[in-house]
Amino acid sequence: MNYVSEFDRAPEAERFHLFRRWMNEDPVGVFAAFRDERPIVSTPVATLVFRYRDVVEALSNPTILTVKLYEPKMGNFMLCKDETITNTRDKGIMQAMLSRDDLPEVRALVGTLADAALDGADGEIEVVHQLGRKVPVQLVEQYFGFADLEHETMMRWSYNNQLDAFNNHPFNFQPNPDEIHAKAQQSLEEMKNHLAQFLPRKAQSLQENPAQDDVVARLLKTRFPAELGFDGERLVTCIGGLLIGAVETTQQAVAQIIDGLLKRPVHLEKARAAALADDDALFDRYVWETLRFDPIVKFMFRYAVQDYTLAKGTDRAHTVPAGGIVLPITMSALFDPDEVPLPTEFNVQRQPAIDFHFGFGHHACLGRYVGGVMIPEIVKRVLRRDNLRALGPIDFKGTPFPEDYRLAYGGACSG
Ligand code: HEM
Repeated sequence: MNYVSEFDRAPEAERFHLFRRWMNEDPVGVFAAFRDERPIVSTPVATLVFRYRDVVEALSNPTILTVKLYEPKMGNFMLCKDETITNTRDKGIMQAMLSRDDLPEVRALVGTLADAALDGADGEIEVVHQLGRKVPVQLVEQYFGFADLEHETMMRWSYNNQLDAFNNHPFNFQPNPDEIHAKAQQSLEEMKNHLAQFLPRKAQSLQENPAQDDVVARLLKTRFPAELGFDGERLVTCIGGLLIGAVETTQQAVAQIIDGLLKRPVHLEKARAAALADDDALFDRYVWETLRFDPIVKFMFRYAVQDYTLAKGTDRAHTVPAGGIVLPITMSALFDPDEVPLPTEFNVQRQPAIDFHFGFGHHACLGRYVGGVMIPEIVKRVLRRDNLRALGPIDFKGTPFPEDYRLAYGGACSG
């Protein structure tokens, strides 16, 4: 099918819906067609941006192409604040607390947790709940130090907020947007109430045992001068973000990467050999290259606060009007042959300068280094099992996130 001519023939009001359907059915094909023939195109819902260079540009102008759409969801969390003191201060402090020196220990802990989940499931596991959500929730408790809660509650708070923040916008066409938003706000309220009681308890226990070390403990042990404005309310907001950011993102990536590798038996065998040899540098390349073909999000979204011309001075220059929504299609960028040679080949030797899996630019993910070891390590522990097979496809149950994905396997293989 010639996607671009079909698109042009469709009534304007239907074009975005048509595009979304194609994007679900054949993302690589539809993106290639638009990258070539219509690299920036407007619909009544949003302006779509397909080329790598233009996607980078759209994510590099935070004062004009902003994160305003997150604002009603997140209040004053760093992700909805562009070029503000709140963002740079909170992100700077949290980056220091999530020290990259911890990563070897974080990876080892994740490995132990993932193996325990696999051993406990006894040869047949439902990956989404029993592994993909369970391990990050345990990491949130044990490494971030956000604890004293039922795991189910942590998963519910994280899920409700992820759904509202990332999948409940005008271009998502949710049938029940108000209900999704209300649930997320309710979860935020419950989380704040929990933290209001938990943090003083934790501060007290730190007085008794100051050697405790986790991210919340580090925050509580640090004396921030009042002039910085990093007060108790900021602490609660930032700690809440650790839980919300960690769970659905990880489970989706884990499920889709395992699924993608099982569908590529030749690469699966090589990835498995790297897993058994504990060659993390090589193994992780299989993980990220698999995710390129099925990323957790195909596009990001930004809101133009004033008119803005993308790709100025080129023959594809295109002005987004003030009040317009821009969708930088990051998956399309990752298949742009101008930046990613032979993009439809699965190639673990490639090293794209930017892979967009953890966002890009001003709002690049705070948890990217933790996620960058957690996701591959969980997948690695799965691949080390004998006789690994899927018992069915990933079932999204009509939601944006995987909800059910079953694997069967034998024991742990020592290699
Ligand atoms: C491990 C725990 C995680 C935490 C604590 C976390 C937290 C955050 C925070 C605070 C931001 C906003 C940063 C800012 O505004 O400057 C962010 C952005 C982002 N995160 Fe994470 N995250 C985690 C894991 C992940 C994972 C596993 C993925 C994907 C595989 C991911 C994908 C993203 C993306 C794409 C953005 C950018 C959103 C945008 O620019 O609109 N995150 N994350």
